Amino acid sequence: MQSIILAAGQGTRMHSTIAKVLHPVLGKPMINHVLDHLELANIERKVVVIGHGAEQVKATIGDRNDVEFVVQTEQLGTGHAVMVAKELLKDEAGETIVICGDTPLITPQTINRLYEYHREKSAAATVLTTDLDNPFSYGRIVRGKDGELLKIVEEKDASDEERTIREINTGTYCFDNRLLFEALDSITNQNEQGEYYLTDVIEILRDNGHVVAAYKTEDHEETLGINDRVTLAKANKIMQRRVNEQFMRFGVTIIDPESTFISTDTVIGKDTTIHPGTIIMGQNVIGQGCNVGPYSELTNVVLKDNVTVRHSVVSDSVVGSHTTIGPFAQLRNQARIGEKVRIGNFVEIKNTVLGDESKTSHLSYLGDSEVGKRVNIGCGTITVNYNGVEKFKTTVEDDAFIGCNSNLIAPVTIGKGSTVGAGSTITEDVPEESLAIARSRQVNKVDYFKNKNKKLDVQ
Ligand code: UD1
Ligand code: CA
Repeated sequence: MQSIILAAGQGTRMHSTIAKVLHPVLGKPMINHVLDHLELANIERKVVVIGHGAEQVKATIGDRNDVEFVVQTEQLGTGHAVMVAKELLKDEAGETIVICGDTPLITPQTINRLYEYHREKSAAATVLTTDLDNPFSYGRIVRGKDGELLKIVEEKDASDEERTIREINTGTYCFDNRLLFEALDSITNQNEQGEYYLTDVIEILRDNGHVVAAYKTEDHEETLGINDRVTLAKANKIMQRRVNEQFMRFGVTIIDPESTFISTDTVIGKDTTIHPGTIIMGQNVIGQGCNVGPYSELTNVVLKDNVTVRHSVVSDSVVGSHTTIGPFAQLRNQARIGEKVRIGNFVEIKNTVLGDESKTSHLSYLGDSEVGKRVNIGCGTITVNYNGVEKFKTTVEDDAFIGCNSNLIAPVTIGKGSTVGAGSTITEDVPEESLAIARSRQVNKVDYFKNKNKKLDVQ
C-alpha cells in the first residue's frame, strides 16, 4: 500500500507567509499529523506533492525517512497533482490512499476502514464521504437510484439539484493504483475552474466498467479540511479534546480539559494530575503520580515519577522523581535534575546538572554548571558563567553549602563539603571541607552620628 499526500496548494485563505500545511495543530505542523496517521495505518510509502512553499515544507518534514517528495510546479488541480507522482508510483501494484495535507483529523482507524470497505467491494476507487448540514464549497456525492456512486461534482459545476446533496467528498480516497494512473490519462480541464479534477476519475472508472464505491463516515469532525484560521482553531479544539479524553481514559486526571493543551507526542503515567492552564508541547515523557500546573509550560521534557511543577516553564530537560519545581521557575537547555531536588521560586537553571537532594529554593541562576548531591544553593546565588564572549563552567561538589547572595565566577570549583560564606564573590577554587569567605569586613563606627555635622562629611 502506498499513499499520496496533496500539499502543493497555496492556502490563500490563510493569508500567511508560510505554507498552509505547516500551520500547527496542537503544536505540530498539520501535514505531520497526516503523515503520522498514515504511518499508524501501516502505510509505509508516503509521496508528498509539494509546490507552494516547497522548500519550507521539505525542510519541516524532510528528516523523516519514510517520505518522498514530488514537486508540482504549477497548481493545475488535484488530478494534476496526483499525476505528478506518476513516474514514481505507476508500476506499483495494490492500493493507493490519496489524502489532503490539510485534513489532520482523519484517524488511522478511518483510513483502515476505508481500505477494508474498498477491498470488500472489490472497488477500483472508494471515496471517503460524510453528510454535512452545510455542504457549501465541497464536491457532492451523486448516487444512482439504488444508492450506487455515479460521480462527484464540484460546487461550481453542480446543478441546482446537485447542490442540495448533503453528502460530500472529504478529499480522501482509496484507489487501485494502476487503474488510478490509467484513468488520470483521460481527465481534462473542461470545467468551471479550468482545473484537472481528481474527482473525475470516479466517473471515468465507472464508465470503463469498474466498481466505484463511497464509504460514509458519521464523524464529520474527522474530515474537517483546514482552509482558514477559523477552521484551524476549530481543528485545534477538536484535537485537544480528543487527546485529553484519551489521557483521561488511561488514568490521567485533567482538572480542566478546556484550558489544557497536550501534544500527541506526549506520554503520561497513571495518577498524574494536570492542573488548569497547562501547555505540554513537543515530545514528552511524564511519569506516574506527577502534578503539573497550574499554569505551566513543558516542551520536550522527561519528568520521572512524582514530580511537581507549579507555575513554571520547563524545556529540553530531564527531572528526577520526587523533585519539586516552582512556583515561577524556569528550566531550559538541558537541565538535568536529580531526585528529591527542590527548585523554588524565581530560579533559572540552564545547561546544568543538579544532583539528588540538592536545593535551590529562591532567586538563583545556575548556568553551565555541575552541582553534586545534597548541595544547598542559598537564596540569590548566581553562577557568573559569561564574560561577554565565552561561557564557563561552575562545579559545586557533593554536600557543599553556598551561602546566600554569592557570586561564583566561572570557571570555578567548590570542593566537596565546603561552605561559601554569604555574600561572597568567589573567583578561585575552594578546596574540599573548607570555608571560603570573600567579602569585605564590616566596620562599625560607634556613635558616629551622635555628632550631627559628621553626617554631611560622609556624603
Ligand atoms: C477538493 C475536491 C472536493 C472535495 C474537497 C475536500 C477536487 C476537484 N475537489 O476540492 O471534491 O470536497 O477537496 O476538501 O479534487 N492541491 C495540490 N495541487 C493542486 C491543487 C490542489 O496539491 O494543483 C492540494 C491542495 O494543497 C489541498 C488539496 O489538494 O491540500 C485539495 O485542494 P483544494 O484546492 O483545497 O480542493 P477543493 O477545491 O477544496
Ligand atoms: Ca480544500
